[in-house]
Amino acid sequence: MNCPSDWPEPIVRVQSLSDTGVFPDRYIKPPTQRPTPISSNSDQATHTNIPIIDFQGLDDDHLRATTLSQISEACRDWGFFQVVNHGVSPGLMDRNQEVWRQFFHLPMELKQAYANSPKTYEGYGSRLGVEKGAILDWSDYYFLHYLPLCLKDQDKWPALPGYARQVIDEYGKEVVKLCGRILKILSLNLGLEQDFLQKGFGGEDIGACLRVNFYPKCPQPDLTLGLSSHSDPGGMTVLLPDQHVAGLQVRKDDTWITVKPAPHAFIVNIGDQIQVLSNATYKSVEHRVIVNPAKERLSLAFFYNPKSDIAIEPAKELVTPERPALYPPMTFNEYRLYIRLNGPRGKSQVDSLKSPRK
Ligand code: OGA
Ligand code: NI
Repeated sequence: MNCPSDWPEPIVRVQSLSDTGVFPDRYIKPPTQRPTPISSNSDQATHTNIPIIDFQGLDDDHLRATTLSQISEACRDWGFFQVVNHGVSPGLMDRNQEVWRQFFHLPMELKQAYANSPKTYEGYGSRLGVEKGAILDWSDYYFLHYLPLCLKDQDKWPALPGYARQVIDEYGKEVVKLCGRILKILSLNLGLEQDFLQKGFGGEDIGACLRVNFYPKCPQPDLTLGLSSHSDPGGMTVLLPDQHVAGLQVRKDDTWITVKPAPHAFIVNIGDQIQVLSNATYKSVEHRVIVNPAKERLSLAFFYNPKSDIAIEPAKELVTPERPALYPPMTFNEYRLYIRLNGPRGKSQVDSLKSPRK
């Protein structure tokens, strides 16, 4: 099955609803999915943060082993961590966030020129999934490709503000480098050759794309979500969160922990494809986004993915008689279709893949 070439019903920009103060019923989540009011949050949810790891330690002979084990623990216990001193220039991070903020504040007619379709998702969008009448999330987004180069098409990137394409491009190059570095660390931590995950992702032919999420102010933040609970379908995500407004929540057992971003940190998380390649030594973790009545929020999710048409399956080195392969081989193209058709649905897809235990 393919994605249809058009949306099942006219697209409504959440930003336009926000500007006029309208809150249609179709953004109301069922009671069990609504955000928990802060007052009834557990102590754990209020006081805990995901681990923060200083990558400077990797270049220090005395600290390297400790830093590697901090990363290993974060991958096993959380599936999420923040990274500081990661090597990407803070100025470039700020400029990129500013470019996107300006883009989302352009007049609607200019943005509509980039309207996307479910066929490729590239461009300016306002929904994930193509089910007619589905309950929607309170966000707009922009999706674009960096890699493979055959999919990189700067004509599909915003031309405004004037220096946008250059900044977006520079940002992509830097974050691709960081992702390569993190994959090496994860491979070593899994007891594999340092190039294992990169090779497993398809070597030079990996995918890299950006989804810029724009969460407008919301008149009814207790009834809806900016992004419903999901795990990321790809390999690994490097998120640049809004520097001023919190909103990302990570599931820890049965509690939702609100991430408190450190200045100029990236938030890194394991995607479903690393769960499969590592035979579930590392697991992708559910996360979601809550919205705010007084402030908009902007985040940049950079997805580092396997080549779309090679089979992804558990590393032979991590498959033993005691721990047989948990997942059958599948290409990322086939895998990604599920979220593109159905929208975000927790971890239902990767969980449903599990081969019966032999
Ligand atoms: C995503 C995501 C979190 C955020 O885009 O997949 O989880 O904070 N974004 O916007
Ligand atoms: Ni996500």
